[in-house]
Amino acid sequence: MKILITDYPDVLGRELEKEIAYLHEDLPDAEILVYPYTDPEAFYREAADADGLLTAFIPLDKPALDRLPGLKAVSINATGYNFVDLAETRRRGIPVCAIGEYCTQEVADHTMALLLALDRNLKHYTDDIDRIGRWQYYAAPRPMGLSGAVLGLFGLGKIGRAVARRAQGFGMQVLAVDPYADPAQAAALGVTLTDADTLFDRSDVISNHMNLTPENTGFFDYAYFRKMRRRPIFLNVARGGSVNEADLVRALDEGLIRAAGLDVLEAEKPDLTHCALRGRSNVILTPHAAFYSARAIEALQRMSCKNLTACLTGHPDKAFRVVN
Ligand SMILES: NC(=O)c1ccc[n+]([C@@H]2O[C@H](COP(=O)([O-])OP(=O)(O)OC[C@H]3O[C@@H](n4cnc5c(N)ncnc54)[C@H](O)[C@@H]3O)[C@@H](O)[C@H]2O)c1
Repeated sequence: MKILITDYPDVLGRELEKEIAYLHEDLPDAEILVYPYTDPEAFYREAADADGLLTAFIPLDKPALDRLPGLKAVSINATGYNFVDLAETRRRGIPVCAIGEYCTQEVADHTMALLLALDRNLKHYTDDIDRIGRWQYYAAPRPMGLSGAVLGLFGLGKIGRAVARRAQGFGMQVLAVDPYADPAQAAALGVTLTDADTLFDRSDVISNHMNLTPENTGFFDYAYFRKMRRRPIFLNVARGGSVNEADLVRALDEGLIRAAGLDVLEAEKPDLTHCALRGRSNVILTPHAAFYSARAIEALQRMSCKNLTACLTGHPDKAFRVVN
């Protein structure tokens, strides 16, 4: 049996020995190879005879699946699995597993870190002091202060709820739009469920925590930025696909929003040389790093390996989460 651990080279910069050990616990005779993904053709050659794939971001659409005839199971070592054609894998009887939950607290912490850094102008001061050598009072825009401000969440799932609790600790009032949320759970949390227009009208901070679906792809566009009446700080730590990036740049240029904190962009591997969001003191970009912590990585590695071995030993029912 052959298992291929594959992803973009930097994604593989984690302790893969641990994953190989987890896989060998259940499949001691498996041949386990690591393949840093560079181009599709080389990947197809490497993976043609693989029984199992462990990956987060490699596209597994129909043309890719056609080139992987031996494939019996896929384990996505992330919560999002939007790079996989689920209907096609289902048709072929290939179980696809993803991680249910491993980094909720980390992503909520990161959201608050972006919010606090933007409101407190940390990038502005750091640039002044480190780059220019300037120490000056009142050099940055006046912070809004979180206490008493209104946070509007899109998506009141696991991460949205964890952000709500933190924001309430800072004295913020929390609104949320989520047609699938449980109203009783929202009420118990002290979060007011509302509609998008009300949220745009009232929020000082707007934060996206929706899972990406065809319904919300390109959701935050110019028309919506124009409706954000209080010039909010805009945060996106979910998926870049929910935001029309050109419209976001325009919203920043026109001052429709006062700042943006983004852990994800439209492209998973953005071309930074042509990125109009770089180099702004009111924009903080982090490279899809919100999930990252020692605890989260340990959980991610263990669960993704156990998902794959459960499927490859004929027990998909024992996987933490099969998504197709
Ligand atoms: N940046 C990172 O490192 C990182 C890490 C983990 C997860 N994420 C992203 O965060 C997202 C949320 O994670 P989660 O664990 O909270 O997922 P979740 O499934 O618990 O919550 C997602 C919520 O979004 C809501 N939603 C979906 N479509 C909506 C719409 N059109 N309008 C309003 N609400 C809508 C759902 O009802 C759900 O409550 C993930 O899908 C993933 O893309 C990012």
